[in-house]
This record gives sequence, C-alpha cells and structure tokens, in this order.
Amino acid sequence: MGATRVVSYLSLMAFLGCLLENSSVAAADSNTVNPCCYYPCQNSGVCVRFGTDQYQCDCTRTGFYGDNCTVPEFGSWIRLMLKPSPFVTHYILTHFQWFWNLLNNTFLRDTVMRLVLTIRSNLIPSPPTFNTKYGYISWESYYNISYYTRLLPPVPEDCPLPMGTKGKPTLPDPKVLAERFFKRKKFRPDPQGTNLMFAFMAQHFTHQFFKTNHEVKGGFTKALGHGVDASNIYGDTLERQHQLRLHKDGKLKYQLVGSEVFPPTVSEAPVYMRYSQGLPSEQQFALGHELYGILPGLTLYATLWLREHNRVCDILRAEHPSWDDEQLFQTTRLIIIGEIIKIIIEEYVQHLSGYFLKLKFDPVLLFNERFQYSNRIALEFCQLYHWHPLMPDSFIIDDEEVSYSQFMYNTSLLTHYGVEKLVDSFSRQVAGQIGGGHNSHETVLRVAELTIKESREARIQPFNEYRKKFNLKPYTSFYEFTDDPEMAKGLEDLYGEIDALEFYTGVMLEKARPDAIFGESMVEMGAPFSLKGLLGNPLCSPEYWKPSTFGGETGFRIVKSATLQKLVCHNSKWCPYVHFRVPGKEEEANSRKPSTEL
Ligand code: HEM
Ligand SMILES: *[C@@H]1O[C@H](CO)[C@@H](O)[C@H](O)[C@H]1NC(C)=O
Ligand SMILES: *[C@@H]1O[C@H](CO)[C@@H](O)[C@H](O)[C@H]1NC(C)=O
Ligand SMILES: *[C@@H]1O[C@H](CO)[C@@H](O)[C@H](O)[C@H]1NC(C)=O
Ligand SMILES: *[C@@H]1O[C@H](CO)[C@@H](O)[C@H](O)[C@H]1NC(C)=O
Repeated sequence: MGATRVVSYLSLMAFLGCLLENSSVAAADSNTVNPCCYYPCQNSGVCVRFGTDQYQCDCTRTGFYGDNCTVPEFGSWIRLMLKPSPFVTHYILTHFQWFWNLLNNTFLRDTVMRLVLTIRSNLIPSPPTFNTKYGYISWESYYNISYYTRLLPPVPEDCPLPMGTKGKPTLPDPKVLAERFFKRKKFRPDPQGTNLMFAFMAQHFTHQFFKTNHEVKGGFTKALGHGVDASNIYGDTLERQHQLRLHKDGKLKYQLVGSEVFPPTVSEAPVYMRYSQGLPSEQQFALGHELYGILPGLTLYATLWLREHNRVCDILRAEHPSWDDEQLFQTTRLIIIGEIIKIIIEEYVQHLSGYFLKLKFDPVLLFNERFQYSNRIALEFCQLYHWHPLMPDSFIIDDEEVSYSQFMYNTSLLTHYGVEKLVDSFSRQVAGQIGGGHNSHETVLRVAELTIKESREARIQPFNEYRKKFNLKPYTSFYEFTDDPEMAKGLEDLYGEIDALEFYTGVMLEKARPDAIFGESMVEMGAPFSLKGLLGNPLCSPEYWKPSTFGGETGFRIVKSATLQKLVCHNSKWCPYVHFRVPGKEEEANSRKPSTEL
C-alpha cells in the first residue's frame, strides 16, 4: 500500500514536471489555440486542457481508448457491429404494423418498451454535468438549479472562431437566417396529421419546465422543478399557488360563466399575468402560468386541468371525508401529474413518434434497471423545442376564420365558444410541419431569430458535435443535410463549413424524414431528454408508485387510465372530436355527431 502510494506520488511529480516544462515552452507562443477548440475527444470523451497547447481526452467508461477516444474496446467493437443504425431502428418501428400488432399483446411489448426507455435515457447524464458557465464538472453546476444544464460544454471562450475552429469569423445574421430559411412561403401541413390540439398541448406542457430567465444572461431558468411538476397549473411559487387555491376541499378557485366553470379573474386570485393593456380585469383570468392568457389554446388547457383538478378533489373527498384541504390538494396534484405523464407518453409521444409499437407508461418496467429518479432540464432541450412552425396561417373555429390579431390576447374567445367547440376545432385543424424550414408564420418568425441569438450567447457547440454525442454520423456536406439545393447553397455560403452549422438551425432545417414532422436529429436528440424527464419524475420511483400515494386504488386507477379524451369529456357538456391528429375520412364521418358517452 505504502509503496504504491510512493510510486504514484513519484509518477505524479514526474507528470507535473513534464507539464510545467511543456507549458513553459508553449507559453512563449502567444498564438497557441486552446486544443479543446478542435473538439478532439470522440465518443463522449472529455477534453481537458493541460499547459497551453496540450490536452487529454478522458475516455473513462466510454468503451473507447486512445488519444482521442477513437479506438473501440473489444466489447464496443462487437456492439458497434451489431447495433442497428437509428435509420434502421426507426424504419422498423414505423413499418410492419402487423408485426407490432402481434407483439402488442405479448410480454415482448414490455421488453421493447423497456429497451426504448433505457437506451434513450442512458444518453442523458444523471446527475447532470455542465452548464452555461461551467464547461467542466463543478459543485456549483450540480448544486445551483437556477441554471439549465448542458449536455455538451459551451464552446471555450478563447477559441479562434465562434464555433471553435471551423467556419467563418462571424456567424450569419440571425435575421437573414430567419428570413431566408425559416419564413413560411406557403403553409406546409404536417404529413403526420398533427393538429392544433397537439400544438397547444406542446406549448402548454413544455412551458412548465422551459422558463428561460431573460432578465439575466447565462442560461438560467425560472422553473426550478426541472420536469413535470404541474407548476404551469399551480404556479411556480408557493405564494402563487396559495392565491390560486380555494382553500376548501383541496380545490382551485374558479368562476362560473353561465353554468360553466372557468378560471378565476385576477381580482379573485391576484397573481401576476401578462395581458394587453386596458383589458378589463373581469376578462383577465388568473392562471398558473403568467403567459397562458395570451393564447386561447393555452387558456383552454388551463381550464381543462382546473376542472379536472376540482373533479378529482370531489372523488377523493368522497373516499376520505377526514382529509383536510391540504391533503386533498396535495394528493390531487400528484394524480394530475400522473395523468399528464400518462397522456404525454401514450398519446402525445406516441403520435409524434409515428411508431407502430404501442408505447406504454408503466414505471415498473424500470424497477430492475439502473435508473436515476431525478432530472435537470437542458438548454439544448429548450432550444430544440422551439416548434413554432406548428402554428397555422389563421385559426378555423366553428367554421369561421380567426386571424392572429383576433386570436391572441382574446380571453373572451374561450368563454364565447366554450371548451367543446374549441377542442373540436383545434382537433380538426392541421398544424404546420416543424422540420425542413420555410414554414414559420410571420407572427412567430422573430422567435427563431431570438432563439439563434440566445444560442450564441450561450456558446452552444456545433450541430455536428451534437450529432456525434447522440451516436449519429456527422454530416459531411450541406447537400447531405438538406434535400433543398438552394438552402444547402445558401447555408454553405453563410456558414462556410458544415462543421460550423449551429445546433438550432441544424435541428430545424434538416431534411424531414419521409412523411414525418421533422428530421432524424430532432427525434434522436429530443426523445432522450423527453423520456428521461418523464420517467425520472419521483412519481415513477418504487417508493412513490403505489396506490397510497394517490389516496388509494381509485386515484391510482385515474392515473393509470388517463387519456386526452377523458380529460376533455369528463369536463365538458358534450364530447367533441378530441385527438392529437386530424380525423381520417372514417373518423370524419363518425365524429361529426356530438356524443355524450366516452
Ligand atoms: C402563436 C403562437 C406562439 C407565439 C406567439 C410564441 C411566442 C414565443 C415567444 C415570444 C417566445 C420567447 C422567445 C425569446 O424571448 O427567446 C417563445 C418561446 C418559446 N416557445 Fe413559443 N410561441 C408560440 C407557440 C409555440 C408553440 C406551439 C410551441 C410548441 C412547443 C412553442 C414553444 C416555445 C418554447 C419551447 C419557447 C422557449 C421558452 C423559454 O425558453 O422560456 N411556442 N414563444
Ligand atoms: C487526435 O485529434 C487531434 C486533433 O483533432 C489530431 O490532430 C490527432 O492526430 C488525433 N490523434 C490521433 C491519435 O488520432
Ligand atoms: C394493444 O393492447 C392493448 C391492451 O393490451 C389494447 O388496449 C390496445 O387496443 C392494443 N392496440 C393495438 C394497436 O392492437
Ligand atoms: C446561482 O448562480 C447565480 C449566478 O452566480 C446566483 O446569482 C444565484 O444566487 C445562485 N443561486 C443559488 C441558489 O445559489
Ligand atoms: C375576440 O373574440 C371574439 C369571439 O370570436 C370576437 O367577437 C372579438 O371580435 C375578438 N376580439 C378582438 C379584439 O378581436
């Protein structure tokens, strides 16, 4: 023991001496480039700078070795040989419907689902690693949850070029990028049939954990729950929550318009909301999220969840007359979070994936796996979720065309049409295709610009580095990246090299997969963040995932059987057409007649 220690001490000294020598040599040369700017370490190896011109790749547990972690260990070599490419995997999952239907009622469905969950979430480091300030592991980065985490460290400050060592000395003007490649020419409907019910769910759902703090630079968030916490329903502070609560029977405050339940006004629940100036306070709803009064689609979901919360409270109170307001509220909140996760996995992600594998929300699948029940939202996840091309040219409500100016900031639209007609209309209207470019409506075009600006301030690494991080082949040319030769040419002129293409531009403009809503990268990068966030919820842990957490079997059953249709139809006068995709011809014929049953 003693001897080994002496030896390692000596070798450490020799090592350090060596370094000092190197650095004194290198220091003489002021033009030395930080070697980590070349992103030399492959296969998730970690680049550490030594001296000024030296680096080492830490290849520990990457399955690779060598200076740049490029040589596979035997096991990795076998795995690389056997592993199907994302293209093949995706192809299999989105074809052979008969096969997946057969599989559906066997134990193999669980096996495949478990594989999907573990393979995807293993790509996300947990505990989290870097953030916008710390490109190396640090206690501050772990501990200070006001930061979004980062999957890859920022481009080092001292690199010769904005993207490291590739590309041009200045990045393209974000406005030019938005105008030339993001701006809609003619509305391109999503080939998967995604509708506005989906689009507003996407926005409503994600804004509980994407809440960039724009007041300070440096990649900070205001959503400290870092996952599905329903803070968009209950508020992100305890103070806001208490304002929104009725403090009776566990319920949330509400108001009746006619005989229907709607969120309370800001005079009844004084919380900060953003509305246009001069909107009378009786038309200002008080909601969990300060922005959800801006778009009727968001106010609609806020109303549905409010009604669902109060409905579940009644069910719990009937079984637990002894429970106080607090316990009814807290238990209902857990049921609501469970319902959200269930609907998101089995309907929202199911729709988005286009998989014929029937996805399953069952936390038990992971109980024998190595899996951390925690999550930290990443800045890259927030960036790639800017899905503004979903927004249509105008909104068709009850067969009438409503323009953006009539739609936005108009809270009376919801009370005027009612929940049923809005759900029906949004479910029937197709959304825009997200990937491939040229599909962002004027109203949201500036957001693309702002997103690109933000990504530069945060020094997000090039798109191709993320391709590698997610086990995808880096693109070798702009012509491989997109099928649109004009766009390829334009991007090449502006960026110079494919290795300098930015992350957000990359995920949004990449060619879409055939008949799909977006390209390979959006799926392969988005899915890991998404599934890790959903299953990493404490609700899914063995300690929580049991009936007592939800007040007994009744509550547990509500979680395990939640659907979008129940969310709507348990809380409306009649049951409209409700889905995340537009009706097919058959559904069209069947669903025109309103029904009251589920
Ligand atoms: C008419 C509809 C919409 C408008 C007017 C709108 C507008 C905006 C604006 C102004 C921002 C802030 C940009 C910035 O300051 O950097 C933003 C952020 C964002 N939007 Fe939208 N948006 C709309 C629809 C959507 C939809 C359908 C989604 C779907 C996922 C979405 C996802 C996001 C995300 C993820 C962010 C980042 C949030 C954050 O970082 O805090 N938006 N949007
Ligand atoms: C490692 O990467 C650096 C920089 O990209 C390159 O110059 C060097 O030749 C590589 N070394 C090996 C052993 O591949
Ligand atoms: C798959 O099985 C579940 C229950 O095991 C059933 O509810 C569902 O309808 C089936 N789906 C398909 C596509 O066969
Ligand atoms: C997190 O870091 C920021 C920036 O350094 C700091 O202002 C803030 O107080 C920190 N938060 C906590 C909880 O320490
Ligand atoms: C708000 O929506 C209602 C109902 O569709 C409509 O009558 C009204 O004109 C809209 N308000 C504005 C300011 O466009």
